[in-house]
Amino acid sequence: MESSFKTKLPNLGTSIFTEMSMMASQYKAINLSQGFPEFDVPEFLKSEIKQAIADGKNQYCPSTGLPELLKQIGDLIHRKYQKGVFAEDLINGMQNVTVTSGATEALWVAIQTIVRSGDEVIVFDPAYDSYEPAVELAGGSCRHISLNAPNYSVNWDLVEQAINNNTRAIIINSPHNPTGTLLSKSDLDTLQKLVIKHNLYVVSDEVYEYMTFDGMRHESVLAYPELFKRAFVVSSFGKTFHCTGWKLGYCVAPLDLTVEFRKIHQYVTFCSFTPAQFAIASMLKTHPNHIDELAEYYQQKRDLLVDALGNSRFKVLPSRGTYFLLLDYSVISNLNDHEFCHWLTQEIGVAAIPLSPFYQTGKLADYHKSNKVVRLCFAKNDETLLKAAEILCKL
Ligand SMILES: Cc1ncc(COP(=O)(O)O)c(C=O)c1O
Repeated sequence: MESSFKTKLPNLGTSIFTEMSMMASQYKAINLSQGFPEFDVPEFLKSEIKQAIADGKNQYCPSTGLPELLKQIGDLIHRKYQKGVFAEDLINGMQNVTVTSGATEALWVAIQTIVRSGDEVIVFDPAYDSYEPAVELAGGSCRHISLNAPNYSVNWDLVEQAINNNTRAIIINSPHNPTGTLLSKSDLDTLQKLVIKHNLYVVSDEVYEYMTFDGMRHESVLAYPELFKRAFVVSSFGKTFHCTGWKLGYCVAPLDLTVEFRKIHQYVTFCSFTPAQFAIASMLKTHPNHIDELAEYYQQKRDLLVDALGNSRFKVLPSRGTYFLLLDYSVISNLNDHEFCHWLTQEIGVAAIPLSPFYQTGKLADYHKSNKVVRLCFAKNDETLLKAAEILCKL
């Protein structure tokens, strides 16, 4: 029987990540599709979370986050990015940082905080898939601007042309999923000018902030005090500590925006999983080297995969950050990227993610005419990467 229920999200079906991971498991393909590590969380974190549970740290914690964790996040931001964003007495994070159930919740709440009915939000395609549904459920709509392939840079003239009286915010993501590109200092300077001139807000998705390669630096909105005044900066411990299933992240914002953010956060989840907050606070305090060494750790994996694909017919696009690598398969197949990924998984035994689901639905016909690119995730064990590359080199 056909349902008469009127959906609020008519354009949404199963996410491409769920689709490809299910397919990988059905066809026993090597799964380089969904972005999660194949390796385990650090032993220290495992024992700390066990200890927190054994010690009875199992009840609600403050809605804003465990004070020990807020302090560690405040210290980390201070150490990594700047001295200017928080006034000295706010460094403990209490007034600027809110712990959330993953970056997904932080993005969701930030978007609900700023977007009102009829507002427009600028997003850059290819875009991570959680932004648009959050904007639509807040009563707004997204204005999509495509990044310039093949280097996926932002055309800021197009951004300025797209701004109108309804424009409320711009969502940025650097290091960028799925392309592995980074925004530069000049990008952030331009963004800063635009948001001040047009009185806009910024949601900055920085979940891969510690994974940048070849000595390149992540330009965080946290290092731009004027930009930060209008921004929600989002990060994820799932990415940083290989524990995506713990769903722990945070949002950093100036005090006035944090007050509003927290009003919504308390009714979305009240607080996030307490034992994980104890464990991460302890990890940040005692093992700062984990974060300092993360870029090198992932760079080795990227290099291993890129080298192993050296004799393949794929064109490997540069990955400057994240744990993703794009491959152009245009000399291998005429299939569109979705069909290609199905074929690759079913017939060849390697699962990848097509790029088209990261683009606005209405523009896909055009997109398919000139783009044949898929995404691989290299947060996998070296043997898995080498095995996948060996198979891909035969195509
Ligand atoms: C760009 C981007 N933002 C946000 C998230 C969500 O992070 P979390 O798992 O902490 O909710 C992801 C996860 O893949 C991501 O790639």
